[in-house]
Amino acid sequence: STGYITHDPGFVNTGAASSAITYIDGDAGILRYRGYPIEQLAQKSTFIEVSYLLIYGELPTKTQLDDFTEKIQRHTLLHEDLKAFFSGFPRDAHPMPVLSSAVSALSTFYQDSLNPFDEPNVELSTIRLLAKVPTLAAYAYKKSVGQPLLYPDNSLGLVENFLRMTFGFPAEPYEVDPEVAKALDLLFILHADHEQNCSTSTVRLVGSSEANLFASISAGINALFGPLHGGANAAVLDMLEGIKNDGGDVANFVSRVKNKEKGVKLMGFGHRVYKNYDPRAKIIKNTADEILGKIAGGDELLDIAKKLEETALSDDYFVERKLYPNVDFYTGLIYRALGFPTKYFTVLFALGRLPGWIAHWREMIQDPATKIGRPRQIYTGETERDYTPLEQR
Ligand code: SDX
Repeated sequence: STGYITHDPGFVNTGAASSAITYIDGDAGILRYRGYPIEQLAQKSTFIEVSYLLIYGELPTKTQLDDFTEKIQRHTLLHEDLKAFFSGFPRDAHPMPVLSSAVSALSTFYQDSLNPFDEPNVELSTIRLLAKVPTLAAYAYKKSVGQPLLYPDNSLGLVENFLRMTFGFPAEPYEVDPEVAKALDLLFILHADHEQNCSTSTVRLVGSSEANLFASISAGINALFGPLHGGANAAVLDMLEGIKNDGGDVANFVSRVKNKEKGVKLMGFGHRVYKNYDPRAKIIKNTADEILGKIAGGDELLDIAKKLEETALSDDYFVERKLYPNVDFYTGLIYRALGFPTKYFTVLFALGRLPGWIAHWREMIQDPATKIGRPRQIYTGETERDYTPLEQR
């Protein structure tokens, strides 16, 4: 009756919330957004259409999609004072704290956005986030490479505009490579939502206090920054580079993982829910083959990744623990091939996950029965005891 679902009667109620947005079957490796299988959306849809689906619950008609696209294009510009924000950060700042700070700051520019029950403003805040976060992300990148910020070009689609603001220069025209835009659009679709993962649960928990949408999304970005969550795609690249520097010795790395050497994990493997192959990893692996296959002479890190996957999937240590590649195992290789630096990979994850976060926040505000309440605990501390005066300690 309180909207809580315990996955297992013997399991302490984690306060897990109910939701109608995304369905995962971890054992069967199934993922559906609003009932549509991820495989079909990956093949037939676009990121902006999937964003609409997650937030409003249905695939849009052409009119609805055109209207949604036009509204987002109208809001891609940042307030000039918010642009000034970027000059305050150190040049080598990691883009994730830059992004979470800038998103949180949006609520200082849009005071009308603070009431979560004012539906027209929640709608406006939704459009502002979908439109401005790609601009903020591009600016975080430009800041890190010391290049001038580019204004959005609203004749371009959401992903193309982001790519141009990221890799374009004011002094010369920049043509977005349609292949790059298509690959990134697909990766954003695959990251768009994933039920009650760490960052989405964070957005829901912060939002459950009726904190505004910008504050809740900023909290989600911070949760995603963790290396066991969104930071894993960058950690996979560091892992593969380490194996490459060790002469490509995959067997040696795998034995270090099995010996549980401190801090040595098979990054991009394992999942709290999937105890089977992550369906997104399968799709991304094919994309990696396609994109990286075009690189003359192939890609050494992709070869190492494939050898690592093959070794792990045939090793009882990983099979017994149901450790399979997850969404992060191949994405980093693609992001690198598209021209992004490693520390920017988690920002790309955030851009993909944004519509899912927004959809969950809106669902929770509209239907309190889906709220994650105040989680309780099992107290394991001291029993009651009297205060000891300082001179007696
Ligand atoms: C994401 O929740 C989501 O939906 C997240 C996400 C999303 O879309 O939002 O899918 C995105 O975060 C994917 C996960 C990205 N993280 C990584 O790739 C980091 C590496 N993975 C691990 O940290 C780990 O697999 C977790 C945290 C992802 C999941 O851990 P589990 O399933 O809770 O497993 P566990 O920590 O209870 O470990 C079970 C056993 C342990 O061994 P034993 O103590 O039983 O001997 O498996 C081992 C662990 O040591 N293990 C690993 C391992 N993951 C688990 N051993 C080596 N390498 C790993 N990656």
